[in-house]
Order: sequence, then structure tokens, then C-alpha cells
Amino acid sequence: MNGCEGYNAIAKVYDKLNAEIDYSAWADFIETCFQNFLPSRPELVLDLACGTGSMTLELDRRGYDMIGVDGSADMLAQAYERAEGNPDILWLKQDMREFELYGTVGAVTCCLDSLNYLLTPADLEKTFSLVHNYLDPDGLFLFDMNTPYKFQQIYGNNAYILEDELVWDEGTDTEERAAVYCGWQNDYHPDTGICDFDLSIFEELPNGTYRRSDEHQQERCYSMDEIKKALANANLEFLGVWSDRHFSIPGDTAERWYFAARAKK
Ligand SMILES: C[S@@+](CC[C@H](N)C(=O)[O-])C[C@H]1O[C@@H](n2cnc3c(N)ncnc32)[C@H](O)[C@@H]1O
Repeated sequence: MNGCEGYNAIAKVYDKLNAEIDYSAWADFIETCFQNFLPSRPELVLDLACGTGSMTLELDRRGYDMIGVDGSADMLAQAYERAEGNPDILWLKQDMREFELYGTVGAVTCCLDSLNYLLTPADLEKTFSLVHNYLDPDGLFLFDMNTPYKFQQIYGNNAYILEDELVWDEGTDTEERAAVYCGWQNDYHPDTGICDFDLSIFEELPNGTYRRSDEHQQERCYSMDEIKKALANANLEFLGVWSDRHFSIPGDTAERWYFAARAKK
């Protein structure tokens, strides 16, 4: 399965379901990494697996020239709509395992466990090699991945319900609820490291009925050794890994690893 195949129906409600993610704080972390690991502020930044463009748009607002690459046409359609015709962002529908750019960039970001959607170490390494190819010498690669702890203890075989939040409508001064619920069933297979996610999305329509759409997604669990090996094989120098955006050292119960790597010349 290709990682972007499970991003069709969910694209329209993706931002509602992820409304609690603070992309501004995340961009602060990214800019701190730029300051810590780059000789100067990068001009051109690639946001790989950009989805609906939350980070792409945030970095655009901060003055970077942005390229957003994603394999899902539906996710990119949302990103394009949110960008309101902003001509400064280049959106490309490409599979990250074989993406192509016109030239190199100063930094690459890849947020919200998008790399876990690559289901084999070979695909991870292929993607890392392309990141290396399209980074300036000494350019910076910032990405995060879900940890084995998260796959084993949090995802496991659990089921969740996600729902959007109430929205205040300024026009009518009332609480508007265009409700979206997402039932999420996980099935983690420790032998292969693959986790199957079965999502059922219920979106409220203006007449009060609900439209149901189903998606199937898969992520793969990677060990720290596998990630570091893939980086080394792609000629990317590992600079550090943290468990949050305050540069904390990861413990055994970290759910997300934030990595920084540099393109060796
Ligand atoms: C969890 S979403 C994260 C999106 C975005 N980075 C964010 O922070 O909201 C994962 C994204 O990875 C994309 N994706 C998964 N596999 C991909 C692949 N092989 N090539 C390109 N994009 C892929 C999906 O289409 C989806 O938009």
C-alpha cells in the first residue's frame, strides 16, 4: 500500500481533527534548529509530505520560500485552497520515495510522522537519499517519527474516537457545530512492525444527517538503529534526537522522536 492512498476522504476533515496541533510552536522549534545547525537562515525550504500545508503555510508566513510535496491529491487540494492563490508556494503532487525538484533547498522538514507511512527500510533509505540529493551541502533535514513505545503501548490494538471542537460563529454569535467524528481502530503487528489503522469518518451535513467514509492507513514502526542506519546510508549526518520541541532527551516512554540531520558534502 502507498502511504498517501489512505488520505482521500479524510483530507476534507483532516484539519478539524488535528486542530489541537500547535504548528506555530512547532515552527518555533524548526527555526531554533535553523539557528543552531545552519550557518545562515535558509531561503528555500521543502516541506515533504506537507499534507494540507499547515507547516508549509506557517513557514511561508515567516518569510521562507516554500515547496510543499505530498502524494495525496486530496490533501494538496486542501493546502491549495488554504493558500488562497499565494503564488510564492510551489505545491507538487509527488511520491516522496521518488520526488524531483528543480534544484536544491537549504532545509527539508517532514512533520507529523509522515515517514512512518513508508513501510520498508528500503523506502525510508530511498527517501532519505533523495532528501540528501536535494539539500544544499550542509543543508538541514528536520523530521519526526512515532516511537516503538507509541506503536506498542499507545496504538496497540486500541480504538479511539476523535472529534472536532465547537466553533464560534462571529456572524451569528452562536456556537456552530459542523460535527466530525472519526472512529479509529488500530491493529499493530509486532512481527512486521506494521500498524493498520481503520478509520470511519462521520461528517455532519447541513440537513443534520451524517456522511460516512472509511479509510485504511498503515504505518511502520522503526527502531532508532534502523533510522540511524538509513540516515548514514543516505549520507545524512545524525545531529540529534529529542522527545519534544524543547530539546528534551528521549526516555523509554517518548512517543515521538524529533530528529535533526545534515547533508554531508
Ligand atoms: C499524518 S499526515 C501529515 C501531513 C503534514 N505533514 C502535517 O503536519 O499535517 C501524512 C502525510 O503523508 C503523506 N504521505 C504518505 N505517504 C506518502 C508518500 N509515499 N509520498 C508522499 N506523501 C506521502 C500523506 O498523503 C499525508 O498527507
